[in-house]
Amino acid sequence: MIVTTNVNKRKANNELEEEAIKVAKYFNCQYIDRGRLTVKELIGKFGECIIIYKQKTVYINKNFEELYFHLDTAMLRIKNKCVPLLKIIEGREQSILDMTMGLARDSITLSYFGHKVEALEDNKIIHYIVSNGLKKFDSGKSDINEAMRRIKTYNINSLDFLKKQESKSIDYIYLDPMFIYKIKDSSNISIFDSLACQDSINDDLMNEMTRVAKKKIILKAHKLDPIFEKYNFNIIERVGAKFFYGYIGL
Ligand SMILES: C[S@@+](CC[C@H](N)C(=O)[O-])C[C@H]1O[C@@H](n2cnc3c(N)ncnc32)[C@H](O)[C@@H]1O
Repeated sequence: MIVTTNVNKRKANNELEEEAIKVAKYFNCQYIDRGRLTVKELIGKFGECIIIYKQKTVYINKNFEELYFHLDTAMLRIKNKCVPLLKIIEGREQSILDMTMGLARDSITLSYFGHKVEALEDNKIIHYIVSNGLKKFDSGKSDINEAMRRIKTYNINSLDFLKKQESKSIDYIYLDPMFIYKIKDSSNISIFDSLACQDSINDDLMNEMTRVAKKKIILKAHKLDPIFEKYNFNIIERVGAKFFYGYIGL
């Protein structure tokens, strides 16, 4: 993988080039001045790349699929105030650990409605693209921008993170692992799928979540996922929905 800018060195300002050099260092790969190379030529030569634009950062894989930060359904959820997840959370300004950040749509929604959100993402590329977007993306609405900026993110596996936390230190733990039954509902899904951590829930994770959470563990999963029954989640059924929320009260 290489990192470059959206225009060549001659046209890029110093800031853009410095940012690209910084990102290349972070990913332990090379920064290159793209000269006259098109994206097709860059991918042909280097396999995959990260392109730094003034307003956004884009990861492109060998199939020319792109991953970049966008608000996707978060904006819709906020606008409609129709967020089943919020109904499971009692009280205001709760501390919430989102163990599976992904594109951060749930984290943004929870933060927007006043909760204190920390979000974990195992994959380094997803984490970089999304945390950078949370810091810099301009939604055009100051309250949504503020909600994004408030989220604290970590590039870490959630089980490793939990093991370092004190008992009963977080009000709610939320997780939305990759579906066993895939739902194709996002333009980013196939590149996202190929990068995302596919960890499933096991006894070790359940024990750590039960130790660290004060109030509830909340799970979003496909309605047919046997995990709800295996660990005795209270299921919130939703007519017509492909996925359900479940929770364990502590
Ligand atoms: C289904 S997506 C989550 C989508 C997210 N709720 C949203 O609103 O955009 C799952 C994400 O969690 C990450 N993930 C899965 N298991 C993880 C783990 N054990 N630790 C940290 N991240 C994990 C995956 O890499 C993926 O990005």
